[in-house]
Amino acid sequence: MKSVQKKVTETRLLEPLPEMDEQQFSQWMDLLEERTGTVLPPERKSFLVTNLGLRMREIGCRSYQDYYKMLSGVQGLKEWNILVDRITVHETRFFRHPTSLDLVREYVAKKPADQNSGHVSVQAWSVACSTGEEAYTLAMVIDQTFKQRGESSYFGITATDISPASLMTGRKGLYPQRRMKDLEPDLLEEYFHVVEKKDYQVSDYLRKRICFARMNVMDIVDEPVGQMDIIYCQNLLIYFDRPTRTDIVKNMARHLMPGGLLILGSGELLNMEHPELEKINHPRVLAYRRLKEIDKDYE
Ligand SMILES: C[S@@+](CC[C@H](N)C(=O)[O-])C[C@H]1O[C@@H](n2cnc3c(N)ncnc32)[C@H](O)[C@@H]1O
Repeated sequence: MKSVQKKVTETRLLEPLPEMDEQQFSQWMDLLEERTGTVLPPERKSFLVTNLGLRMREIGCRSYQDYYKMLSGVQGLKEWNILVDRITVHETRFFRHPTSLDLVREYVAKKPADQNSGHVSVQAWSVACSTGEEAYTLAMVIDQTFKQRGESSYFGITATDISPASLMTGRKGLYPQRRMKDLEPDLLEEYFHVVEKKDYQVSDYLRKRICFARMNVMDIVDEPVGQMDIIYCQNLLIYFDRPTRTDIVKNMARHLMPGGLLILGSGELLNMEHPELEKINHPRVLAYRRLKEIDKDYE
């Protein structure tokens, strides 16, 4: 009996789904934009169709319209949480943009100690952290810089993303060997240990400094993330149109301490002006320093 059922499921998985017409594509693009803010260009249609199709086959749904309806029904939120992971891009790696990380190092090396406590502390935020590599990279860079300073210090990292599945991977902090190629051997030794002779587990020392949380970047203004010294947001803004990119940056700036550092992906937002953000003059890094309190009326 079981094998008959298995065969039926396998056959279903292999059956091609119907073509997605332009009207349906635009309906799915609107849903994606409404819920995540991201804009899918027409050339990404095959990415959407393939990934929607895979998920629909998994749950035995044969029509785009029925699946669309399901997402707004009672089961909608649960299913959306699974789908959002499939239709967003999660590519990431450790030490992805070394020149931006040099700026982090420089900031942490120079940050003055608090006059009352005598401690140096840094709060950083990896916005759209995907599966966690970016957050762990920031943690290693900050920890190494503090060790070189040799003073009493503390750091914490907030790592957020819209995809629950990616956050789960980040929280586990367990990565296959092939993902470790960009790490210096001494960092690998200091912050990871090998599990079952193949995977690398991030040390508890780093993991307990990182808080992974679900957050849609479109809701940043209302989120209680506190004031940050460093906001690191790379390879996210490219999925939004220009007005939305500018709004996201303005909203992130509200969560930045005066003097704090906002690092974006180079080329992701050109010619942005903001009265309280000073652009850092660097040929290969797109970054801003917050000058003072943000005027709350600034739109
Ligand atoms: C290409 S990855 C970038 C990962 C990392 N920042 C890096 O540069 O390596 C983009 C991430 O943005 C997330 N994302 C997409 N839309 C989002 C939104 N509206 N709010 C928060 N995260 C979002 C995706 O889930 C994905 O993990």
